[in-house]
Amino acid sequence: MSNELDGRSIIVTGAARGIGEAMARGLSAQGASLTIADIDAHAAEKVAASLREGGAQATAVAVDVSRRESVRGMIGAAVSAHGKLDAIFNNAGIAQTRPFLSITDEDWHRVMDVNGLGVLICMQEAIRQMIAQGHGGKVINTSSIAGKQGYEPLAHYSASKFAVVALTQAAARAFGKDGINVNAICPGVVATEMWKVIDKGFVDEGLTERDNQAFETFSADILLGRPSKSDDLTGVACFLASPASDYMTGQSLIVDGGMVLV
Ligand SMILES: NC(=O)c1ccc[n+]([C@@H]2O[C@H](COP(=O)([O-])OP(=O)(O)OC[C@H]3O[C@@H](n4cnc5c(N)ncnc54)[C@H](O)[C@@H]3O)[C@@H](O)[C@H]2O)c1
Repeated sequence: MSNELDGRSIIVTGAARGIGEAMARGLSAQGASLTIADIDAHAAEKVAASLREGGAQATAVAVDVSRRESVRGMIGAAVSAHGKLDAIFNNAGIAQTRPFLSITDEDWHRVMDVNGLGVLICMQEAIRQMIAQGHGGKVINTSSIAGKQGYEPLAHYSASKFAVVALTQAAARAFGKDGINVNAICPGVVATEMWKVIDKGFVDEGLTERDNQAFETFSADILLGRPSKSDDLTGVACFLASPASDYMTGQSLIVDGGMVLV
């Protein structure tokens, strides 16, 4: 086991399952002290408990990333459990399949509240803490290939993921002088509960005929020949939290097996 991240205090939001859980496990394996933050408190505690059973430092926190007081509580809990905050992965997100002309104002606000506003609030509160500590830090946001291309019928989701790229670039410009690196990861098609929601949406909207059809169609042309597993994202997550990426900021790295080539 490498200990590249020994002693680093790292929050991962949306870490109770899927990509966030895989990232948290990967970071933990490199010695980091984890705060497993999720709206699903019970599932978050299960992940934290399993990390502790393996001898790692981990604490679970219930958070709704779209609510500032809740996010402040999460930052406070991480600092009180691990003494400081070195990095935060703003990974929590939601998706919805809806044809362009059917997106309601309510749909827009629900998706943007979690994926856009939620990332902004978590960045602001974490960066305030890092500036107060005075020794920099790392902010890593989860965007998507949908933050690089607009996908129909995921227009509002795509807009929220473009917003994450914009927040990443703007904060990188603002806080480089404070030694804070801000980058994003853009996954492709990852086999998680989220894709089950997206896939069911395709069926419910009459856009596909059977379960898994949308997942298979989106995955068909991936250059590396298969859709992503959550574990495919842990390498780049560890890199962006580690000193190896100290001279990198403002970037949104596509990790999609070869779907969007820019
Ligand atoms: N699965 C994919 O193909 C894919 C592709 C690109 C980007 N992403 C992004 O990766 C991230 C993780 O996605 P996933 O596939 O692991 O999804 P997932 O649905 O499996 O997990 C998301 C987690 O976020 C939590 N969450 C949801 N709303 C929250 C809130 N308001 N506050 C705190 N926690 C909340 C959920 O409880 C869940 O544990 C998301 O930002 C998603 O948009 C996913």
